[in-house]
Amino acid sequence: MKDIDRLISEMTLEEKAGLCSGADFWHTKAVERLGIPNVMVSDGPHGLRTQDLNSSDPNESIQAVCFPAACATACSFDRELMNKLGETLGEECRSAGVSVLLGPAVNIKRSPLCGRNFEYVSEDPYLAGELAAAYINGVQSKNAGTSIKHFAANSQEHHRMTCSSDMSERTLREIYLPAFETAVKKAQPWTVMCCYNKINGVYGSENPHTLTEILRDEWGFKGYVMSDWGAVNDRVKGLKAGLDLEMPSSGGINDAKIVQAVKDGELDEAVLDQAVKRILEKVFLYTDSLPKKKPLDIEKDHIIAKEIAEECIVLLKNEGALPLPESGAKIAFIGAFAEEPRIQGGGSSHINTKTVVSALTAVKDICEVSYAKGFNREENETVPELLSSAVELAEKCDAAVIFAGLPDSFESEGFDRSHMRIPDCQNELIDRICEVNDNVIVVMHNGAPVEMPWAGKVQAIVEAYLCGEAAGEAVTDILFGKANPCGKLAESYPLKLSDTPCFLTYPADTSAEYNEGVFVGYRYYEKKEMPVLFPFGHGLSYTAFEYSDIKLSSDHITDNDTLTVTATVTNIGNCFGKEAVQLYVADRTGFAVRPIKELKGFEKAALAPNESAVVTFTLTKRDFSYYNEELGDWYAPTGKYTIMLGSSSADIRLSADLNLTTAAKLPFIADENTTFEEFMDYPEGQEAFKILLGHVAQQMIGGEHFDENAMREMLSGMPLRQIRSFGGITDEMMYAAIDSLNKNFGGWKRQIPQK
Ligand code: BGC
Repeated sequence: MKDIDRLISEMTLEEKAGLCSGADFWHTKAVERLGIPNVMVSDGPHGLRTQDLNSSDPNESIQAVCFPAACATACSFDRELMNKLGETLGEECRSAGVSVLLGPAVNIKRSPLCGRNFEYVSEDPYLAGELAAAYINGVQSKNAGTSIKHFAANSQEHHRMTCSSDMSERTLREIYLPAFETAVKKAQPWTVMCCYNKINGVYGSENPHTLTEILRDEWGFKGYVMSDWGAVNDRVKGLKAGLDLEMPSSGGINDAKIVQAVKDGELDEAVLDQAVKRILEKVFLYTDSLPKKKPLDIEKDHIIAKEIAEECIVLLKNEGALPLPESGAKIAFIGAFAEEPRIQGGGSSHINTKTVVSALTAVKDICEVSYAKGFNREENETVPELLSSAVELAEKCDAAVIFAGLPDSFESEGFDRSHMRIPDCQNELIDRICEVNDNVIVVMHNGAPVEMPWAGKVQAIVEAYLCGEAAGEAVTDILFGKANPCGKLAESYPLKLSDTPCFLTYPADTSAEYNEGVFVGYRYYEKKEMPVLFPFGHGLSYTAFEYSDIKLSSDHITDNDTLTVTATVTNIGNCFGKEAVQLYVADRTGFAVRPIKELKGFEKAALAPNESAVVTFTLTKRDFSYYNEELGDWYAPTGKYTIMLGSSSADIRLSADLNLTTAAKLPFIADENTTFEEFMDYPEGQEAFKILLGHVAQQMIGGEHFDENAMREMLSGMPLRQIRSFGGITDEMMYAAIDSLNKNFGGWKRQIPQK
């Protein structure tokens, strides 16, 4: 183990400043005279985009395996699978000499339009955090680092380098931060990559609230923070706020600014030393571990990519058309994606793949199918000859499997979609084929939800997302029942774009107002009682599962208790299958405006026919809490909660209630602007106020037919000073009541009102 403090003490100011930015596009700087090596970082997240060092072009990458993108792997709802993906990538990093893999990317899918949604995990922060932690632990178990990104609230590509994501602290804490928080607490990523955008007006690269107060002081992050590529605005401000490494190289410009700031006394050298230390700790953590260099085994990892893809594909609809028979039926594969699947998205995550297996190739190992291209993959317009020959073929076949999806040009890093449609030529093709064949199956390759105007007409829909280089093999295995689908949607599929939570303002130019607050994805659709095309957590199987016997370890918990929830899941069909059981918590206290329910647990059970398993979940107070801004902390109101276990957010099979009692108090000081309603939350307040109330009643209705409840309802929103204006209440009386309240409650804490 190197004595890093000693090394830092031997470095010149210039060397230290230099170490805080890259040597080039992908490397940190070395300080040869002190034996400090440079290390390489690579994108990420679903494969290695590692610079080919034989080329001078930083975007020329070595050949590597393209695993399913996060839009797909999220649907696994499977921590073990994510861990295995991580381990495989970690080994690849060691083989390719990569010290830090730039991923996972866990930004919350605020709108289906975000160009990078294919790379992001979910609309749900709990799911995103759990899966990210498992992935990070996998990679880092092989002694290569990760860089969880983009910290935080990077929800649009439009003007991503200047736009500000503006939201309440509650929204930030409940929706946009927890995936990072969980990953930091459960997996300690070696690095965190800050976002391009501003957060509430301050760049993510120089935001002390997120980079230091929250990330380090609250969550205990131990690694280093690196910038997204080119995200640095003011380097010295950034360093002070907690940004350690600037990537890529600033060509020396910002290094010089750091040196000058130290010389001018504007920047404490200790801040610089600390950043250098954090970077060096991870540099040596990588270089000190065995340089055992197994070559990249692309063939072996291709098989893993296929296995992972099969666990992620989501069967959205099946009226019995699937699985397809291997013999005795004439099957047509139609659509350009059958020949050339879309396996990944565009931009910095793009892998230089060696082998892409299409469904048309893979199906040859199973049976013979006929093929018609139907449309050009990258085009919107119908080509009449392609359309008519596809329709002709479909007419003659027992089943028509249409491979549709989004062209590369429709979604990518760097821009957002402007609509949720697939190309017109594909919609037309599906419609026309439905007219001549009543056994139509659609396989989708897309990185984010699309409108499916034909969903009611087709017999089955398979959502394959962008599921990596083995897409074709995985999809055909699912189609013919060689693998049983077990993916669940990690995002809601709205019926149409105008239903989406931030439709009115997305994307913004300079200030993105997150006015929908915590109501993102299913939290929004459920609250608004809005139908969706497919709900969050939805996914079918070729078998069926029965849920029974929900048990809570207690029907009453307090702040420090944990609650254990168990239930039995049984495979009641006739083939092996996996079921991702989802646990949601619903706050029934009515204390705060909250989503109808929120995901707080998931477990995937693998079951043979007739086999049962007990799934177990452990919940703590945090799982019942919302972020209370007055308190500046998580707060679970006293009252009733419901635990729900479901096969999707819209298919709840079991539920049980419990009560929670908290000793936490919310800050409160009564004054003349305190409302009658607030005042009445206190026993002492009630007493004191009765006097006031009596006066008002006297004043208003002469004391006759005095109905305290009606009066309370009528006056509830009025501040005390207003009620005073009814007359008969002197200042002395009002302040005496206020004083009595503050005195009785120590002037600060309010008990929880039971509504
Ligand atoms: C992206 C990052 C990526 C980096 C390096 C940036 O433009 O936002 O996600 O890791 O480039 O390629």
